[in-house]
Amino acid sequence: TLTKEFIKGMPKAELHLHLEGTLEPDLKLVLAEKNQIDIGQTTIAEIEKSYQFDSLPSFLNIYYPAMNVLQVEEDFYQLAMAYLTKVKAHNVRYAELFFDPQAHTSRGISFETVINGYYRAVTDSHTLGIETALIMCFLRDMSAESAAETFEQALPHRDKILGIGLDSDEHGNPPGKFKAVFKRAKEAGFHITMHCDIDQENSIGNIREALLDIQVERLDHGTNIVEDRELVEYVKEQGIGLTCCPVSNGFVVDDMKGKEILDLLREGVKVTVNSDDPAYFQSYISDDIFALSENYDMTPADVVLLAENSFAISWLPEAKKSSYL
Ligand code: HPA
Ligand code: ZN
Repeated sequence: TLTKEFIKGMPKAELHLHLEGTLEPDLKLVLAEKNQIDIGQTTIAEIEKSYQFDSLPSFLNIYYPAMNVLQVEEDFYQLAMAYLTKVKAHNVRYAELFFDPQAHTSRGISFETVINGYYRAVTDSHTLGIETALIMCFLRDMSAESAAETFEQALPHRDKILGIGLDSDEHGNPPGKFKAVFKRAKEAGFHITMHCDIDQENSIGNIREALLDIQVERLDHGTNIVEDRELVEYVKEQGIGLTCCPVSNGFVVDDMKGKEILDLLREGVKVTVNSDDPAYFQSYISDDIFALSENYDMTPADVVLLAENSFAISWLPEAKKSSYL
């Protein structure tokens, strides 16, 4: 009885969304043509056919090279505005947007080009009736030194960045590798979060480290927390939220983790549902919630709770938050 219309209509916040993961095949082709970049494909169908991934690394191997079509500030702006225009139809009122500066600086694009393009979209999002903020992520498969350098590059743009996150390949790259830079980020007043991806080699150990050593304010994915009752109680007490992405999970581990998501939600963990990389998984935020409802028993109350949680665990100032709740 849960309709896509009901889910779409619910006012919501999106908190786990990689801007680089919103690069749709049509825009990819337009930018490739404009910037004279050979991407190996010339039609949308060819691009879609190349999207064959069954693990996080196999996804990342397609995801990073595609970013080469993003060359100038306007490209980053256009990418973000295209996403925001799409999710206006999903009644997204507020979005905290991940971006990966190192995926661009490592191929010769300046930090300023990236931040200025994305930040212009943050400013202009108001024209769409959406409020937005940026979360800068470090690539965990790059060095701690590279993360520290990236943090230095970000400091002159302190006012444009709300939080700091950690993404890319978790294998062999635990939270502790970045302890020093996250400590600095926290001291500088940034909000902090980290990906704790699904079914990693030491998922629960990494979750424990992220929560207790780094003291993150949210976990991105993080559903392996069900393996440790004490940690589940800890996040409940602390009001630490999980930003889950069921369709993304379905691609990278062949399991939406819907049981974990709904069990945690119903026992009071501040769980949210998000799209992660919607252009690659062909699923925007309402599609993710709908997919969950099609595969697991879900009630309208569950959908309402997901939407409430999305504002509750956002990093909006309290006064703003309560205006949405
Ligand atoms: N996990 C890690 N890195 C990523 C993801 C993710 O879900 N999406 C984009 N980069
Ligand atoms: Zn992610």
